[in-house]
Amino acid sequence: MTINIDLTAFQSSVIARLEATTTVSELEALRVELLGKKSLIQASLAQLGKLPQAERKQAGEQANRVKGIISAALDAASQRLANQAEAQLSGVDLSQPITIAHQVGHIHPTQAVLADVYDIFLRLGYAVVDGPEIETDWYNFEVLNMPADHPAREMQDTFYLQSNPGQAPLVPRTHTSAAQIRYMSQRQPPFKVIVPGKVYRNEDEDRTHLWSFYQVEGLVVGEDVSMADLKGTLLHVMQELFDESVKIRFRPSYFPYTEPSVEVDVWYRDEWLEICGAGMVHPDVLEKGGINPELYSGFAFGFGPDRLTVIRYGLSDIRMLWRPNLLTSRQV
Ligand code: FA5
Repeated sequence: MTINIDLTAFQSSVIARLEATTTVSELEALRVELLGKKSLIQASLAQLGKLPQAERKQAGEQANRVKGIISAALDAASQRLANQAEAQLSGVDLSQPITIAHQVGHIHPTQAVLADVYDIFLRLGYAVVDGPEIETDWYNFEVLNMPADHPAREMQDTFYLQSNPGQAPLVPRTHTSAAQIRYMSQRQPPFKVIVPGKVYRNEDEDRTHLWSFYQVEGLVVGEDVSMADLKGTLLHVMQELFDESVKIRFRPSYFPYTEPSVEVDVWYRDEWLEICGAGMVHPDVLEKGGINPELYSGFAFGFGPDRLTVIRYGLSDIRMLWRPNLLTSRQV
């Protein structure tokens, strides 16, 4: 196979194509096409040995000339691209640290609500106290009148932790009420506290339920503390968190550790959204906490800051709060 081409025409067509390249990868593709294993030039060089002696010399010279022209044109194009890249970089100080446009983060919406909750309760004279997140079955259930076979445990089914033989069974707390007796047994009334923190349940998630969520427990014990105090306090807190027009309602309910017991709902998006369980502390529970129920009474409540966050930011689904989706969290 010999190359019978007009060298001048070939040279100008190759040069035109090479000059049109704008990227290194385009240039590399052309190099493969023009000089690679399957190129015309390689094929003709491979065939040289099969040509009659008389033609071989001339054909070899021709092929090498074409190869030389292509190589020189490729080198020129490669140099041109390198010069362009350098020109683009001129004026850029490569010793400077890379600066990437950064976005300033913000506090998580539920934490923002919690910060307001602390502020409101501190102004009402409450103390903010802590309870353990991993609790004994005793403080989480037993002492709150929920023995092992009590049906109320069903509503707070949870994940039990392995404990050593002879040790009290442990649970990730299912509610912040677990802190009630711990606190009562250390103090004598009067006192007003809130206990914020994470709680965990074996829960099917949906638009109003998470399996791990925040609660804020409230506990107030003193002389003549009444249901009216409970109602006034919760109404005030909701008005402070939202505005004066917030609509709330109290619904009769049942908790083994309060008597009477209520659920508190807030009107949101044309329906009542349950935000809090509450009631007057059961005399049994006061007694177990070392407080004389003849002298003192108290109220307790436990509300869900994640649900309050849903209301504040107008979310349609509580699960959005704890999914790692920056598009959501940047909007709220
Ligand atoms: C309780 O946990 C009681 N311990 C509350 C209580 C405290 C009653 C003191 C009496 C005295 P409940 O399971 O209803 O109750 O939960 C209280 C609040 O936590 C609910 O009103 C809601 O705001 C929030 N909550 C409950 N379950 C979930 C969940 N799965 N996801 C998000 N928030 C929840």
